[in-house]
Amino acid sequence: MKKVTDYYAKLAKKMGYPARSVFKLEEIQNKYHIIKKEDAILDIGAFPGSWSLYMLKKLHVKGKIVGIDLKNTGGLKKYSNYTYIQGDITEEKTINLLKNYGPFNVIISDAAPSTSGNKDLDSLRSLELVRAVVNLAYKALKEGGNLLIKLFMSEDASNYLVKTRELFLKTKNFKPKSSRSESREIFFIGFNFKRLNKKNT
Ligand SMILES: C[S@@+](CC[C@H](N)C(=O)[O-])C[C@H]1O[C@@H](n2cnc3c(N)ncnc32)[C@H](O)[C@@H]1O
Repeated sequence: MKKVTDYYAKLAKKMGYPARSVFKLEEIQNKYHIIKKEDAILDIGAFPGSWSLYMLKKLHVKGKIVGIDLKNTGGLKKYSNYTYIQGDITEEKTINLLKNYGPFNVIISDAAPSTSGNKDLDSLRSLELVRAVVNLAYKALKEGGNLLIKLFMSEDASNYLVKTRELFLKTKNFKPKSSRSESREIFFIGFNFKRLNKKNT
């Protein structure tokens, strides 16, 4: 397994990406085409910037891209359509701030809690992030838009996704090849957001 980890990490470095996670988005994009060049995109958990860089450099996204993360980042300043915000997605003030940058055609989230080693606690924290992202989608995702969220699979997450699925015309759960096989992470993809009045949080 370590070999695979090293392979993707080394390849990312060689290609000029700061993190191996770029290959997860690439695989999802190649398979499901969730992002279009002209889209306005919100990248949640954007640090250290691989997903944003991939969209700017490889997909040549010309619409605005807003990256948000707890961490500060200095990169990607040369792209005039890129904005980076430091903030916590679970805080109401961040959600209100991001709303002002929207609406977005696509919201993608690779946000993950720092793992504690306690499986239940990590799942709970991951679900808290998922809820915050879905809450934000209500406020800032355009009708017909796409949503991509990373989550740690658990019974609670699975139950939560049942409700979240109703918000989209079609949904998929996907585990990219480049995702470590021992990791419980999966990606939820919602296609074609239906703007309903009910809240799902
Ligand atoms: C796996 S990394 C993202 C990698 C990124 N997609 C890339 O390709 O470079 C997960 C990120 O989620 C961020 N994160 C965790 N909790 C967050 C929160 N509450 N608000 C914003 N970002 C958060 C972490 O700081 C971390 O940088």
